[in-house]
Amino acid sequence: MSDLVQLTKDNDIAIITINNPPVNALSPGVPQGISESIRKIQQDDTVKAAVLIGGGRTFVAGADINEFVKMTSGKIKRGVGLLPVLLEIEDCRKPVVVAIHGNALGGGLELAMSGHYRVAVPGAQVGQPEVNLGIIPGAGGTQRLPRLAGVEKAIEMCTSGKPVKAPEALKLGIMDRVIEGDLLAGAVAFAREVAGKPTRKTRERTEKLGTPEQNAPVVAAARENVRKRQRGLMAPLVAIDAIEAATRLPFEDGCQNEQRLFDECLFSDQSKALIHAFFAEREVSKIPDVPKETPVIPVGSAAIIGAGTMGAAIAMVFANAGIPVVLKDVDRNALDRGLANIEKNYAVSVKRGRFTQEYVDERMKLIKTTLRYEEIGGADLVIEAVFESMALKKEVFAEIDRAAKRGAIIASNTSTLNLDEIAATTSRPESVIGLHFFSPANVMRLLEIVRGRRSSKEVIGTCMQLSKKLGKIGVLVGNCWGFVGNRMFLPYIREAQFLVEEGAAPEAVDKAITDFGMAMGPLAVSDLGGLDVSYRIWREHRGQEKPGLRRAYLEDRLVESGRLGQKTGSGWYKYDAERRATPDPEVAELIRKWNAEAGTPQRKISADEIVERCIYTLVNVGAQILEEGYALRAGDIDTVYLNGYGFPNYRGGPMWYADTVGLQRVYDRICKLHLQHGALWEPAPLLKQLAEAGKTFADYQRETGQAAD
Ligand code: 3HC
Ligand code: NAI
Repeated sequence: MSDLVQLTKDNDIAIITINNPPVNALSPGVPQGISESIRKIQQDDTVKAAVLIGGGRTFVAGADINEFVKMTSGKIKRGVGLLPVLLEIEDCRKPVVVAIHGNALGGGLELAMSGHYRVAVPGAQVGQPEVNLGIIPGAGGTQRLPRLAGVEKAIEMCTSGKPVKAPEALKLGIMDRVIEGDLLAGAVAFAREVAGKPTRKTRERTEKLGTPEQNAPVVAAARENVRKRQRGLMAPLVAIDAIEAATRLPFEDGCQNEQRLFDECLFSDQSKALIHAFFAEREVSKIPDVPKETPVIPVGSAAIIGAGTMGAAIAMVFANAGIPVVLKDVDRNALDRGLANIEKNYAVSVKRGRFTQEYVDERMKLIKTTLRYEEIGGADLVIEAVFESMALKKEVFAEIDRAAKRGAIIASNTSTLNLDEIAATTSRPESVIGLHFFSPANVMRLLEIVRGRRSSKEVIGTCMQLSKKLGKIGVLVGNCWGFVGNRMFLPYIREAQFLVEEGAAPEAVDKAITDFGMAMGPLAVSDLGGLDVSYRIWREHRGQEKPGLRRAYLEDRLVESGRLGQKTGSGWYKYDAERRATPDPEVAELIRKWNAEAGTPQRKISADEIVERCIYTLVNVGAQILEEGYALRAGDIDTVYLNGYGFPNYRGGPMWYADTVGLQRVYDRICKLHLQHGALWEPAPLLKQLAEAGKTFADYQRETGQAAD
């Protein structure tokens, strides 16, 4: 018997327990253990029914994703999968009751659906999140789920990947009972109720399936919806195909069809990229010199200095996590504006059904305002979010140093300024760290945690842990200009401008980039953030750049002509009252004029060139950052880009994407661009080194000893 699965008895009820921490993934040994248990149960006349349950914190989080990586990299062969063991469970002559706590996800839900009944605690969730990994359910999920919940709901769950809570699953027919109190005891009692009754096989149920004709409108609408909302992703469309087949084919044929489609997805570049993204996101929390055992500073309260765009939204982040927060600004008006923004944001969430009014009322009670530094004295964490000015930040940090209690963490939300210089104004630089939230802070999941030269390990470890509590993905980055995200992003935006200077229309640049999969084009993004913002940043940065580098001029001209982007109704595009963008003939004319004045030769520029130049800029700067050690791993840079900058998740992030293109090819192209466009394109030494050695960024990650996948 596999030691990952235990078989015990409670009188006439057998109990199969899966124990494969941390999430009971269906790793090798688990299906075999279940299969063996079922065989024993069939043979044991004293057993009348069985309960299948997960040990530890959850039921089953699905197939073991590590095994998929081994299959696609050729380390192991694709095995028979889970289907046979699920048939054994379903064919068991004694009722099998699956008891769920935590999650039943992917193969976990497929396993549960092969049982004859499912019971769960109220907080449990079930789902088919495979699309998030670029695959579809591969153990009969596309065939059994529509039989339990109907085609429409099955499509919704398999295409969105979103789980449903037990009470909803009960309504949908996925669950048979929600158990308050002890799950195992409740499941055993349920098993006794159904013992001796004929078993119901999910695969034989057809009452909710309907015919292909009846389902045609639902299926067509779902395809349309997926094409619009999950642009570029292959797996959700394939999942619809597999579910639709359940209405046409007998169960066995439907499963065979599902297997074929599953394999197509699994071996695709999209799936490899998404699986990389999954592991990279988990890897970021591993900091070599800050192990998990590092003592943490309890954060039971927070204070935020500056109630502007960022400060107000950061206050919501803390309130949403149940942490009381004090918001400080210079005058009553600023505080009132901040509070009004918070209330407006919450009202939108209530209107959209994301939060209830009671929930919001509770959150609002956690947010207090003040004009006095003395009132931040009790806070365990103070975050500064005042204007982006070094002089002002130094002043504010001196005040915080005076008012904050010893041991409190002091953080800055600066996006570009030197954290060490800020920290040096305090008497406790070891307590200072950067917490770079992204706008809108209450929505964006990325949090760059900026490690100063003196930041203590306790402060770093606490912020890494805190990011999870706040619902953020905390990525530790070093203290360089723009940190990781903006250090790469600003040159990317500048490259987009260069393309317009050389003859591409702004809308052609943005279209090429959104066709590549980015959430927005670089010029539309600039208009959204305000052209004056990067204008100011570049002006400040120019002093630090090597002399003689090519400089962009179009954005400067737009700003100087009062075109600041969406906020003035005009920038690279013109905007109507609903802030919808259209190409602006007037701007096109101005661009022609400015380009002629600058004497920039004009030419036709292909979409391929646009994508290469913008994306390879990210890669080249990313390689510099990696080599200089400002990011720990290539996967960390990818995580930043996937969660903060709208990089298409099915391309795995800029560094992974470069690996899939081939670093030799990327390097050769960058060398050509270097010759054509000068020093800004100087290839990063690490890129050159890896390309010449025939290696990838993933290899580099493995060799520097920090890889998981
Ligand atoms: N396979 C292998 N490892 C897994 C795993 C899985 N299915 N799910 C989680 N893990 C690992 C994580 O990598 C992490 O490892 P680490 O500690 O070494 O970094 C550890 O388990 C804990 O995971 P999290 O940090 O994510 O823990 P959380 O408590 O935050 O989240 C979770 C738990 C919601 C279960 C989340 O891990 C998750 O979403 N897992 C993936 C679920 C999924 O996609 N399942 C479908 C798999 S594909 C499948 O089943 C195909 C089938 O149809 C045949
Ligand atoms: P903002 O202009 O909206 O708000 C700044 C607030 O600080 C104002 O309410 C102002 O009254 C207040 N303030 C100024 N001096 C103060 C003082 N001495 N004491 C207390 N409050 C004071 O600015 P925003 O956009 O919120 O930016 C704040 C910081 O966040 C900056 O460092 C910025 O670089 C950074 N940031 C901004 C992002 C954005 O998209 N807006 C994204 C990520 C970081």
